[in-house]
Amino acid sequence: MERGFPENQPTVRLVLKTNQTFGLVEPFLAAPHLLKERSVPSPIVIVSDALPGETLAVLKSTCDVRHLDGRDRKALFAALTDADALIVRSGTRVDAEVLDRAPRLRVVGRAGVGLDNVDTITAAARGIAVVNAPGSNTVSVAELTVGLIVASARHITAAARSLEDGQWRRSEFAGVELAGRTLGIVGYGRVGRQVARRMAAFDMRVLAHDPYADIADGDVHATGLDELLATSDVVTLHLPRTPGTAGLIGARELSLMKPTAYLVNTARGGIVDESALTRALREGRPAGAALDVFATEPPGSSPLLALPNVVALPHLGASTHDAQLRAGREVAGKVLAELAPLLSPSPTAV
Ligand SMILES: NC(=O)c1ccc[n+]([C@@H]2O[C@H](COP(=O)([O-])OP(=O)(O)OC[C@H]3O[C@@H](n4cnc5c(N)ncnc54)[C@H](O)[C@@H]3O)[C@@H](O)[C@H]2O)c1
Repeated sequence: MERGFPENQPTVRLVLKTNQTFGLVEPFLAAPHLLKERSVPSPIVIVSDALPGETLAVLKSTCDVRHLDGRDRKALFAALTDADALIVRSGTRVDAEVLDRAPRLRVVGRAGVGLDNVDTITAAARGIAVVNAPGSNTVSVAELTVGLIVASARHITAAARSLEDGQWRRSEFAGVELAGRTLGIVGYGRVGRQVARRMAAFDMRVLAHDPYADIADGDVHATGLDELLATSDVVTLHLPRTPGTAGLIGARELSLMKPTAYLVNTARGGIVDESALTRALREGRPAGAALDVFATEPPGSSPLLALPNVVALPHLGASTHDAQLRAGREVAGKVLAELAPLLSPSPTAV
């Protein structure tokens, strides 16, 4: 990511890269009148977390883009006094105090999915649009989930660790085939559906539980949560964390799972009661868990990390170059759409 403030650009100079597609950005690139220099001031866009270079190039072609580190609140407050847009990832906390310092702000762009770090209620009250990129990392999370399911069934991380320690313990790491076994998906939204498609290709029978979604979907069977937990060989979570879902998978639910089953959570920490999961895994029911997310991140000295039947990752679901590029493109396009009144030249300006 570029740091420091680039020189102000009082006029628009747009360079069209014909061999690239920018999704939502394309209308702006395609508008021929924007290709010419004009004299209206460029909207000021503060970028306070790292964004892909391609996204920055698109923004810079029509806006005055200023970089800073969003964790530096003083610098953020100062930069926001004349900003028209603020673009963040998860590193910048956009709370009421930040929004208070931004009298001209039209839009907050979150280059990703979760809006946990943006005070959307205050933004709405002030008439500031909040835009994100909801589908940008769906495939990345689904693919990581597939990886964790396979890693669980074949003890991949424990076996690799043991070999690194100089051991050759083959029989101990005998796993199970996924074909013919049952996958239970809790939360049948964007990620859940992509996981279902991929795991059906492994010849798994797929169950799904989602009180709010239509699950009439090919070979996917809708079930209640208890039945799903009791009959699945792998249970994978793909629902949001809300006051209603926090602790949804607790001691009672874990006790319903088969002793041979695995639990995978690439959704949000806190949906699973971690103390109950630690106890259950120590007792061997379920057989193991693969966790990309934790109630507190980083999880510090969580006892879960010390268990041999846990595969733990540092919240990597969305961490692919592809997802980040997609999120950057989508959010840049939406931010530019919100700034359109400032970008459109008057009939005489061009
Ligand atoms: N690990 C990562 O890096 C990463 C990245 C992106 C998203 N996520 C998380 O993955 C999860 C799924 O994301 P998505 O894009 O598929 O969301 P989505 O909104 O498309 O789908 C979520 C689904 O959960 C369902 N749901 C809500 N409450 C439920 C309940 N009590 N029981 C069962 N289902 C319930 C909803 O009806 C919806 O269909 C979210 O928690 C999201 O925060 C994690």
